[in-house]
Amino acid sequence: MHLLSSPNIVPFSAATDTNGIFDQAAVLRVNDIHLCSDPGLGLKAIVAIHDTSRGPALGGTRCIRYASERQAIDDVMRLAQGMSYKSAFARLPYGGGKAVLIRPESVPDRTAYFERYAEFIESLNGRFVTAVDVGTDVSDMDTIARKTQYVMCTSAASGDPSNHTAHGVLNAILAAVCECFEQNDLASVRVAIQGLGKVGMRLAGLLHERGANLIVSDLDKNRIQQCVDEFGATSVSIHEIIAADCDVLAPCALGGVIDNQALTTIRAKIICGAANNQLAQDEHGDRLFSKNIFYVPDYVANAGGLIHISFGSSIETTERIQAIYDSVIDLFRRSRVTRNPSHRVANEIAKQRLIKSRQA
Ligand code: NAI
Repeated sequence: MHLLSSPNIVPFSAATDTNGIFDQAAVLRVNDIHLCSDPGLGLKAIVAIHDTSRGPALGGTRCIRYASERQAIDDVMRLAQGMSYKSAFARLPYGGGKAVLIRPESVPDRTAYFERYAEFIESLNGRFVTAVDVGTDVSDMDTIARKTQYVMCTSAASGDPSNHTAHGVLNAILAAVCECFEQNDLASVRVAIQGLGKVGMRLAGLLHERGANLIVSDLDKNRIQQCVDEFGATSVSIHEIIAADCDVLAPCALGGVIDNQALTTIRAKIICGAANNQLAQDEHGDRLFSKNIFYVPDYVANAGGLIHISFGSSIETTERIQAIYDSVIDLFRRSRVTRNPSHRVANEIAKQRLIKSRQA
């Protein structure tokens, strides 16, 4: 692993505790991490590149607050690994990487902030290509595109992938419901959605169209109100959503929601949503399995956006997003036959595909 700082970039703060970062990178097989800081603009950017054997490392730019720089580095490494697995599992021509911008209290000049960040991306010479994620949108990608070609999801290119991501999650939920409840539709299925952002809100609409009953929560009261008004959803507080009385829990906010605390309260029989890194640790997935709760691995359910980025608005995109349904059925059956939790079955498939592409 290389811990690198790019040209004109302030070196990693000597005051920051770096113990364990190399160990963690080795465990996750993250290849390299790049840092960029511009104090005048409030920019603290981290890019983790996990694997490039299938193609350039593609990953969104996440711009959120973090409790610590270490937490941000851990997040970006896990997210980068997830991107490699997502691409390999869905047989897409990309490697895995991710960018995290540690968002300051305020960003006075958002254009200058993203232009400076774009120069950092450009300095990586195409090993990393970015796209939207939590806290960034298509207009930010347009700003980034002024300084680098290594960006997707601009208004001139593929645009926001969230609609495709939501369709993929919908197909994954349909498959999981079919396997777990032997039901071929979503009529009266109770789905609890955590997070009504770009993906969660779209998913809510798709589920409502198919007759599902929605329970929702978000930090943003306006989004909740929209969902209640348009889709007849019931709202609960952000502290209640994980334990909601539902059939399907759809995490569509941030990662790490399936943790020790959640495991004691979850009532859903299926967990299937868009959020990356839903399991705080892999062991939490094992415990879901032992409780007979079917977990659809996040990167299997949420691959629709990446598929759209890879193939644009095409029949291939539609077919591949439809095929998420078959992948989930296959995973469920393999998991049952091998008595192995679904995330471990999926990880093994992704790892084997990565090994093959490294050898090719
Ligand atoms: P977003 O930023 O548009 O929406 C996230 C929503 O979650 C916001 O409305 C926010 O207020 C809400 N939220 C944050 N913390 C919350 C909490 N504790 N409880 C309830 N709500 C909370 O993000 P987007 O694009 O919808 O992505 C959602 C998740 O899906 C992220 O984890 C992202 O990485 C993942 N994802 C998104 C893709 C896409 O195409 N947008 C593709 C693949 C994965």
